Amino acid sequence: ERELVVPAKGLVVLVGVSGSGKSTFAARNFAPTQVVGSDSCRGMVSDDENDQSATADAFGLLHHLVDTRLRRGLLTVVDATNVDSSARKRLLRIAADNDLPAVAVVLDPPEQLVRDRGAARADRALPDSALSRQYRQMRNGLEGEGFHEIHVLRDPQEIDSVVVRTRP
Ligand code: GTP
Ligand code: MG
Repeated sequence: ERELVVPAKGLVVLVGVSGSGKSTFAARNFAPTQVVGSDSCRGMVSDDENDQSATADAFGLLHHLVDTRLRRGLLTVVDATNVDSSARKRLLRIAADNDLPAVAVVLDPPEQLVRDRGAARADRALPDSALSRQYRQMRNGLEGEGFHEIHVLRDPQEIDSVVVRTRP
């Protein structure tokens, strides 16, 4: 079974299109308080996790939470698509400002599986074109952006069974 080692003090940036399984992965491998999610932040500033007009405020809150937790030396996981390099750069900057490493965990299961799951999802109706755009964005590699490590998980069974360990 695959082991995924992440720094005990640092930032874990999940990267994956909507429906790739980020929130499921985060819930399985981390404590709820370690996970800072764009949807929960959107909910906290709008009472509606799908209210797109709250996006700027939601990310303001997310970045503040990440910065505060890292300043306190706490392992922090960002549950947001992060397919856009500017979103990742912002997070990398917050980690660097706190002198802590950032690692990326890319969840990239087969596109057909993601589309099938999306069609079955009641909580969110993402237009096909939006998902396609996220896939195009994700093709831009993460190499050279400043991540200490980039873990890419493609096999759905591996995504389901990987064991996360922390390295002091
Ligand atoms: P967004 O929050 O929209 O960006 O999606 P996400 O990446 O957080 O995906 P999420 O974890 O919500 O998973 C999307 C859907 O796929 C949900 O209905 C999950 O129940 C399902 N799902 C996620 N991971 C797995 C998995 O490992 N196995 C199975 N069978 N379903 C999964
Ligand atoms: Mg999610």
